[in-house]
Amino acid sequence: MQHISSRLIHGQTPQKDATFNRSLKTPIFESASFDFATAEEAENAFTGASEAFAYSRISNPTVTELQNRLKVFSNAEHCLCVASGMAAISNVFLTLCSSGDNIITSQYLFGNTLSFFSKTLRSFGIEARFSNLEQPSSIIENIDDNTRAIFLELPTNPQLIVFDVPAISQIAREKNIPLIVDNTVLTPYLFPCDQHNVDIEIFSNTKFVSGGATSIGGTILVYPSDKWANNPKLEADCQKFGRDAFYKRLFKEIYRNIGACLSPNNAYLQLLGLETLTLRIDRIMDNTLEIARFLQDQPKVETVRYGALENDPGYNLTKQLSQGKAGCLINMALKDKTACFQFMNALEMIRRGTNFCDNKSMIIHPASTIYWDFSREDKQKMCISEGMLRLSVGLEDLSDIKADIEQALSTI
Ligand SMILES: Cc1ncc(COP(=O)(O)O)c(C=O)c1O
Repeated sequence: MQHISSRLIHGQTPQKDATFNRSLKTPIFESASFDFATAEEAENAFTGASEAFAYSRISNPTVTELQNRLKVFSNAEHCLCVASGMAAISNVFLTLCSSGDNIITSQYLFGNTLSFFSKTLRSFGIEARFSNLEQPSSIIENIDDNTRAIFLELPTNPQLIVFDVPAISQIAREKNIPLIVDNTVLTPYLFPCDQHNVDIEIFSNTKFVSGGATSIGGTILVYPSDKWANNPKLEADCQKFGRDAFYKRLFKEIYRNIGACLSPNNAYLQLLGLETLTLRIDRIMDNTLEIARFLQDQPKVETVRYGALENDPGYNLTKQLSQGKAGCLINMALKDKTACFQFMNALEMIRRGTNFCDNKSMIIHPASTIYWDFSREDKQKMCISEGMLRLSVGLEDLSDIKADIEQALSTI
């Protein structure tokens, strides 16, 4: 099977495993633990000599099937699914960093990621160096011997800034530092990390993968890399496992000790989501571009940011990196917070909600919600203005989305 939409439905090869009783859907293995026929089997499962299932915090057949399907999707060497997108981020950084280390990232981040970097990691003595990733060469001055990763979102949520990933990845290669991309907005379908020297990809399954926001989950994808040897924390793992060093440390220690495993039921929902992922993304891309153009023509809308718009600053990079496709998020600005609230409250079909990549169109005012507890100065630095709205365009008929926006704009 060549095409990704077929492989997302069937896996690498159609599943004909008799242990699933030839069921056409992967069963939900809701069992905390698994039986061993002998004490030797138990020993082998614990030492890693076999891959037998032992306990669902560590591995589970439904979750493993999702991981296998996501490996086919991304061409990654290893895949680990966890309880949420934030669990993916925290597992990765706790595997890579120790006290005294630093990471390079941008100010433009999803609110909890920003809080994890600036508060949680800081309390463990790990510094996030917020750099201007729009000018990749400026990263270099922030790199030192203790830099363990460069992290970015593509595009950033909610500013929708598109970074020059090839230029950043070149610096990461020259400096031997792992590049980590949060690919939640685009997914491997639109931005293939394996073609851009990304070492670790993470995304929130809660968005496109879950099939319309049915469940919370997260994914960590690890690509072949020799950079782990540069990290003293992974030195012993490198000697033992070579280029699998990062994944082994993650899977054998951090992931099982943190305990943020994905539930089999959520894995099942996300497997269902994968079957229709390309179909939904294709339709949502068409809808979102059309709505972005429509918003540009509305006099009460002051600015619209969407990378697939010809006049967007991210347009050329969007064409280069993701075939001109920019995801389901539009960043739009009205006059002020009052106008935003009036507009939101007048919407009849579009929902007021905090998720995105849902089948339903959804809108949020980031300054008063996701970023409510950041100071005015911090919000300014992050370009979170009081007049900004984040619209996630769904699968509804375009004419209904336009009509709802039009009638709500007429009330302000
Ligand atoms: C870009 C991005 N990364 C990570 C996350 C965290 O994902 P989750 O809510 O599944 O923990 C989000 C959540 O909205 C996000 O927008």
